[in-house]
Amino acid sequence: MKLAIGCDHGGFELKQEILKHLKERGIETTDVGCPDSTSCDYPVYAKKVTELVRSGEVDLGILICGTGIGMSMAANKEPGIRAALCHDVFSAKATKEHNNANVLCMGARVIGPGPALMIVDTFLDTPFSEDERHIRRISLFS
Ligand code: RB5
Repeated sequence: MKLAIGCDHGGFELKQEILKHLKERGIETTDVGCPDSTSCDYPVYAKKVTELVRSGEVDLGILICGTGIGMSMAANKEPGIRAALCHDVFSAKATKEHNNANVLCMGARVIGPGPALMIVDTFLDTPFSEDERHIRRISLFS
């Protein structure tokens, strides 16, 4: 599995924690930035991660900003992107099983690294259900 991860200044510290965790898990990850906690524009990094997902260069993306909201809004503007804002493990599991989400968004000002790493693991380790009803519903996205 290959991942891409991006953040803005609000998500930089949490991104570092997630990168360390992914390295420990042996997961190949492309870090598109931002490179430090200097103020920056989250849509720039949403675009970089979603481009890698859309091109198939990576399987899944992770985006972190202060709330996760701006990142999820920006990511979901891109065709083929199903970005899910998750701050709990149940949602992370359900959005993979039901929505076949391909980008996980989180807000570093909403949750700490403990829950965030559990959410990341759940998101990565839960497969899409492949249920016909879920395939049909996803196909109805415009
Ligand atoms: C940056 O201050 C903040 O607006 C951003 O990280 C994010 O929360 C936007 O949705």
